[in-house]
Amino acid sequence: MTEARTLLYPTPRARVQAMKEYHPPLGCRDALRLDFNENTLACSPKVREVLGRITAGDLTRYPEREPVEAVVAAHLDLAPQQVALTNGVDEAIHVLFETFLESDDELLLPVPTYTMYEVYASATDARVVPVLAADNLQFPFERLLAAITPRTKIIAIANPNSPSGSVATRAQILEIASRAPQAVVLVDEAYFHFHGETVMDLLSSVPNLIVARTFSKAYGLAGLRLGLLAGPVELMRWVKRVLSPYSVNSLALACLPPALEDATYLDWYVGEVVQARAEFGAVLDAAEVRRWPSHANFVLVEIGARHAEFVRLMSTAGVLVRDRSSDPGCDGRVRITIGTRQQMRQAALVLNETLAALRAGNEAQ
Ligand SMILES: Cc1ncc(COP(=O)(O)O)c(C=O)c1O
Repeated sequence: MTEARTLLYPTPRARVQAMKEYHPPLGCRDALRLDFNENTLACSPKVREVLGRITAGDLTRYPEREPVEAVVAAHLDLAPQQVALTNGVDEAIHVLFETFLESDDELLLPVPTYTMYEVYASATDARVVPVLAADNLQFPFERLLAAITPRTKIIAIANPNSPSGSVATRAQILEIASRAPQAVVLVDEAYFHFHGETVMDLLSSVPNLIVARTFSKAYGLAGLRLGLLAGPVELMRWVKRVLSPYSVNSLALACLPPALEDATYLDWYVGEVVQARAEFGAVLDAAEVRRWPSHANFVLVEIGARHAEFVRLMSTAGVLVRDRSSDPGCDGRVRITIGTRQQMRQAALVLNETLAALRAGNEAQ
């Protein structure tokens, strides 16, 4: 009989042991997925055409990022050295933090915000300094300014922010950048298309500004994992040293130019969402559900103590929405992605039925 041996496993860093596990909810194929802020329909048909032409031979080669970075740079009116393509904005955040954060540096984070900033900060030895928004969830500008210290090294601003949908103004971003010249100000414009305002044009005049964009939202390419960082050459050269040369795969690289070229599709989809956002807002108002004004393709709503039941009932009726109750200052709040007008009319029916069921339950208690 073999003797039972106790296996000894190496331990990870203490900071990693303290991290919470992140389990994104699994989607259900037949449901209307309003829980991830994705494009709810499709990418451009031009992208599908290009995908269909990819051969087995194309897959044998390592991907070549630089020519496509040049295409993206031209599209954004930037120099190729100012742009780095990444495996989604998630990799962009990870790489940026690894490039700039030393131990004991501070990452200023207006919260509630996108979860992955904190996750990737935990992969460094920097300190996360959360700056809590007030109940109106507007960008906590004054509080953020007050939190800047000489150790502040990165300030991460999702603009528009998730889950609130609130925005920082251009003047606020400029003020923050000038008050923290030792820090990189990351403006994550993942939801830019649904807002229409950018600070990308400030990259040549603000030395500590970096902008992130994703192809996961308006472009409908979340499955390909494609994002970018853009900034002054003097910052981007360090980022590019840390970035893996092959983290953006060749399918994603092939699809990016046709996605950029098809402005007609992009404008159509964004137009749908913007109209649906207004229509769905009116539905929420009529149902007397508190909502926060949103500049993105989602809306945060107040459901209250029965938020988990609300999410479960919506899901049973075929509409997936995201409970944000565990986000700072978000107890009882649920985020609903905005899709096309037709999809949101379906979502509105389910929402009203779900609210009626919850309210009837309340009365019966
Ligand atoms: C603010 C923000 N940034 C980045 C991302 C992720 O982007 P990507 O899919 O490009 O990694 C999200 C996704 O929800 C987000 O909300």
